[in-house]
Amino acid sequence: MNIMVTGGAGFIGTNFVHYVLKNYPDATVTNVDKLTYAGNKKNLVKDKRHIFIRRDICDKNLPVENSDIIINFAAETHVDRSIQESSIFVKSNILGVQNLLELCRRHNKKFIHISTDEVYGSVSKPSKESSILNPGNPYSATKAGADLLVLSYVNTYNLDALITRSSNNYGPYQNPEKLISKLITNAIQDMPLPIYGNGKNVRDWIFVEDNCSGIDAVCRKGKKGEIYNIAGKQECQNVVIAKKILLILNKMETLIQFVQDRPGHDQKYSLDITKIKKLGWKPKHTIEQGLEKTIEWYQQNTGWWK
Ligand SMILES: NC(=O)c1ccc[n+]([C@@H]2O[C@H](COP(=O)([O-])OP(=O)(O)OC[C@H]3O[C@@H](n4cnc5c(N)ncnc54)[C@H](O)[C@@H]3O)[C@@H](O)[C@H]2O)c1
Repeated sequence: MNIMVTGGAGFIGTNFVHYVLKNYPDATVTNVDKLTYAGNKKNLVKDKRHIFIRRDICDKNLPVENSDIIINFAAETHVDRSIQESSIFVKSNILGVQNLLELCRRHNKKFIHISTDEVYGSVSKPSKESSILNPGNPYSATKAGADLLVLSYVNTYNLDALITRSSNNYGPYQNPEKLISKLITNAIQDMPLPIYGNGKNVRDWIFVEDNCSGIDAVCRKGKKGEIYNIAGKQECQNVVIAKKILLILNKMETLIQFVQDRPGHDQKYSLDITKIKKLGWKPKHTIEQGLEKTIEWYQQNTGWWK
């Protein structure tokens, strides 16, 4: 099987490429990534079953012909950047997905689109796949737009496409602009741990390896046109995450520094994962287990993030 992974030099894409090469000895991976600031050449695995192509997902001539399935991780992903300037988010996250859908339609390829729990917006109870979309920032609005485009291609062209919506990921290879990787790298260096607002925003954290196995389950057993939520079921306030990291690293809580809140900061994301559990998948890591592994990786790979 030849799998095309787009965005495979970024955080989750890199972990997914590792996952495929480790678990599917017969699989080859074609990795398409534009290498934006978030894509890292150092992440690219040297393996004869892995081919890297530096291209934009908006490129109409992407070589999809020899792939059996296209899994799209490529996106602009940082909410704060989308609040500063959103045009590149519209281009990559919506027009890029439209281009991939067209390629899949013309070449009759299966398409898996990686989306996010942020499309449901801030919620007080767990969102199901059928819950209304209520994105609260430009990033999540572009992801919601792309999700609707994917569903329209299933309905209109009978395209074999599926969507995963995962909760916040953490783990190895995450750019230190994101919460957990920033907290860990700052704590290692005894630098302040910046926490937005009062730190009471809640996210449902998933260790990235668990998301990879969830995506795998959806690729193998998911039904055409369906959406699958994927979460670790480890809901935690941001300030509690900071305290857990400091405890593992044996550092003082006085390093926590509350900073001015993000505009329109969503209070809580929460996912109902009943549907994907029916595919036989469940998350394996508690937040403590995942944080231990992640911290160890950042301690052993200072050259990667410094
Ligand atoms: N990180 C999370 O917590 C999280 C949670 C839910 C969903 N997601 C989704 O998972 C996917 C991967 O997220 P991530 O955290 O790994 O992101 P990331 O920012 O670490 O990586 C994104 C990758 O996409 C590439 N890219 C961006 N625009 C591109 C384009 N136009 N053409 C080709 N490549 C391009 C970048 O170079 C980078 O390698 C995204 O679609 C994101 O919306 C992420």
